[in-house]
Amino acid sequence: MSDTTPHEHGLRMTGSATTDQLGKKVASDEHSLSVGADGPIVLHDSYVVEKLAAFDRERVPERVVHAKGSGAFGELEITEDVSQYTKAAVFQPGTKTPMLARFSQVAGEQGSPDTWRDPRGFSLKFYTTDGNFDIVGNNTPVFFVRDGIKFPDFIHSQKRLPGSALRDNTMQWDFWTQSPESAHQVTYLMGPRGIPRSYRHMNGYGSHTFQWVNAAGERFWVKYHFVSDQGVECLTGDEAEKIAGADADAHRRDLYEAIENGDFPSWTVYVQIMPYEDAKAYRFNPFDVTKTVSKKDYPRIKVGKFTLNQNPLNYFAQIEQAAFSPGNTVPGVEISPDKMLMTRVFSYPDTHRHRIGANFADLPVNYPYRSEQNSYSHDGPMRYSFKHPNQPVYAPNTTGGPVAGGKDAADELRWESDGDMLRAAATLHSEDDDFGQAGTLYREVFNDEEKAMTVENIAGHVGDVADEAIQERAFQYWENVDADLGKRVREAVARDAGNDAYGI
Ligand code: HEM
Repeated sequence: MSDTTPHEHGLRMTGSATTDQLGKKVASDEHSLSVGADGPIVLHDSYVVEKLAAFDRERVPERVVHAKGSGAFGELEITEDVSQYTKAAVFQPGTKTPMLARFSQVAGEQGSPDTWRDPRGFSLKFYTTDGNFDIVGNNTPVFFVRDGIKFPDFIHSQKRLPGSALRDNTMQWDFWTQSPESAHQVTYLMGPRGIPRSYRHMNGYGSHTFQWVNAAGERFWVKYHFVSDQGVECLTGDEAEKIAGADADAHRRDLYEAIENGDFPSWTVYVQIMPYEDAKAYRFNPFDVTKTVSKKDYPRIKVGKFTLNQNPLNYFAQIEQAAFSPGNTVPGVEISPDKMLMTRVFSYPDTHRHRIGANFADLPVNYPYRSEQNSYSHDGPMRYSFKHPNQPVYAPNTTGGPVAGGKDAADELRWESDGDMLRAAATLHSEDDDFGQAGTLYREVFNDEEKAMTVENIAGHVGDVADEAIQERAFQYWENVDADLGKRVREAVARDAGNDAYGI
């Protein structure tokens, strides 16, 4: 346990200015020490050296994805009883848990406009009494690829060309059309919910399937849904473009100002629960993040609500240096055999060590301040917290150090798997098909107006593809999603190109 909350250091300074290292009083913030008023400045002006050196190091690398974002603190309250499915302390009835949320764009860099068409990140960190528990999802329930080995290629295709550093629709469609599993997510992205009006007006999803374990050791598969209490509202492509020009920080401003004005945004937390045994025979592979689990088969169950009620006191310390990982689980909550999820469990702490430093978990925003941190790791750059001097630094020991294999240790993900080591897609379930759920989304969820909007959004994007063969593949991709959609996209692109004969 520690008294250091993420807000510890927001103190106001007054009095004399001092140096960082010595606390020594500073003579001037106007003039460097120099030999005569017109002469050279001297190296032993340690204050000017310190000031410039600190400035030179003000940035950590931006996140390789989800670089532009905003965050706020709040509280999760469990209003219902789901203890039959999980023993996690954070989900027990009546429990209130302090938390951090960070919302983001995926492909853009730190200064990118908030309203570009892109999924939005939806990261949650709960400071529970059993340690920090993170859910790192998006505002869409699915993702573009299903195996982490494809993630770097996918992101490269969405970012910038190596020479010109320009974004390029051609490489996006080159990748997507050769990765048909992306169809569901791309339909979502090009559809009516492709650009949220603000972070407050979007739902969040854990996206993957996770595992819950109850007090009796029974296991369930679970999906998280966070439904905006502000309602879901979205922008049209035209509205989004105008806002991008007028206020690149529109989402950040909206969230910050709402909280400053006491208009605290909240989300109702739901789960879909699938009995453990159902997974293998379910009509869709529940461990394929390109698929949803139908709400008709597994309805949403209400769990509670979270509210964001406190802006960061310091954006850099508390949001830029926040480190989320889907691998941060607590007893009663586990990951699943989803290959993407398993890859992510490696990638996030790896990038944190690079982006923030080896001791990123020591920073107040990342520290599990409501539980014991009982590990044997120590030292390393910027180490801040340390244990009692008599604490053994190795395991096993006979001098009273923490022991592995406590009562919850057996919770680690369990799942039967028996097979040769190979590289292949997961076993197909009866209705697994790359285009199936994308087609259902277009035909059964979108109304006529939304269908027309989707056609125009896709046509606007595919129309900029410079390579004819790749453009043709894009038409076929949409024909595979839905024959009518494909035809309408083809026609709209031809119309926009002023060439009615093209490809019709
Ligand atoms: C951020 C990797 C898939 C949601 C990141 C970051 C990396 C990464 C390296 C930067 C983290 C940081 O610098 O702090 C990967 C890999 C994936 C993957 C390797 C696939 C194997 C996904 C999926 C989702 C997702 C499927 C959503 C369902 C996010 C979010 C963030 C993020 C929300 C921002 C975290 C924050 O707010 O700090 N990802 N990602 N990622 N990723 Fe992924």
